[in-house]
Amino acid sequence: MSRYWSDVVHRLTPYVPGEQPAAAHPVKLNTNENPYPPSPRVVEAIRRELGDAGESLRRYPDPTALKLRETVAAHHGIRAEQIFVGNGSDEVLALTFQALLKHDKPLLFPDITYSFYPTYARLFEVDYTTIALDDSFAIHVDDYATPNGGVLLPNPNAPTGRPLPLADIERLVARNTDSVVVIDEAYVDFGAESAIALLDRYSNLLVVQTVSKSRSLAGMRVGFAFGHPALIDALNRVKDSFNSYPLDRLAQAAATAAYEDDAWFRDSCAKVIASRERLAGGLTALGFEVVPSAANLLFARHEGYDAATLALRLRERDIFVRHFKAPRIDQHLRISVGTDAECDILLAALRDIFGAYIG
Ligand SMILES: Cc1ncc(COP(=O)(O)O)c(C=O)c1O
Repeated sequence: MSRYWSDVVHRLTPYVPGEQPAAAHPVKLNTNENPYPPSPRVVEAIRRELGDAGESLRRYPDPTALKLRETVAAHHGIRAEQIFVGNGSDEVLALTFQALLKHDKPLLFPDITYSFYPTYARLFEVDYTTIALDDSFAIHVDDYATPNGGVLLPNPNAPTGRPLPLADIERLVARNTDSVVVIDEAYVDFGAESAIALLDRYSNLLVVQTVSKSRSLAGMRVGFAFGHPALIDALNRVKDSFNSYPLDRLAQAAATAAYEDDAWFRDSCAKVIASRERLAGGLTALGFEVVPSAANLLFARHEGYDAATLALRLRERDIFVRHFKAPRIDQHLRISVGTDAECDILLAALRDIFGAYIG
């Protein structure tokens, strides 16, 4: 029945999300979720918004999510008019491709990066060129000094977790004034420096963030773009031509409460960072080469064992990590940082698998 498909559908290579396992008690280290729950204030706020009989749900939510934007603006010391809100940062990125990155010159992004970028580029027919990371998976911003219709980088990068210093990002933004530079900061709270600090000086900078990782709200689907009001206006124009109510009432209440509990946020990030360093030590002791990470994930390879086989053997034990069958990285595993207990289960399983390994 594919004869009914639009032309563009024939050309798509859809993004493949990480597995959401059916196992009763999986050790789920494959989609970079937070191992800790959100602030209890989030749960209270959802209950309050819902009311006893769910009466608030009769009404459409605020299409501009003003209270949420004001709360987030106060948190970052910026203005609400510098903030765009969407249904997860994936949606924010999708709207950004349409609103700001579709030009005659190609969009630039790294060859190894978030695999949704080429997917969006194909969906929205945005011409793009990839720029190779070096052999240690580092980004060199000087490699992006070519004519372009936009630059898109995650910081820290995905799936490697490798961060870029803010000075490098500023050099890139300062030089690239003819098009927008988008910095995708999905993982920034786990140890990198946010480019939000540069917003007041550069009108060509857009910073994208999410509550999915550091605020434990992947299930709520809330993401942001921060930038000059003219960039935010472009995003709103596309949003209001597509879906004017991207964030439901419960999501707006939950995300607002998450930003109101800064102590919870800081504590949970600190725990994840400590577990990351501990897990990196454990993996290194087992002979893995681990890419330096400022995210809630580790990207690691082992000379002696095939990565796809390791992922499969772990899966048999209900331990889920991510393997990408892609050039340059098919011998790596991307491992989300869990609780110390989960990381210990992973390390013990790896030890066991190594003991009995038949490749
Ligand atoms: C680099 C990067 N950007 C954006 C996202 C999307 O996050 P969300 O749509 O949950 O906000 C992810 C999710 O894994 C990611 O790794």
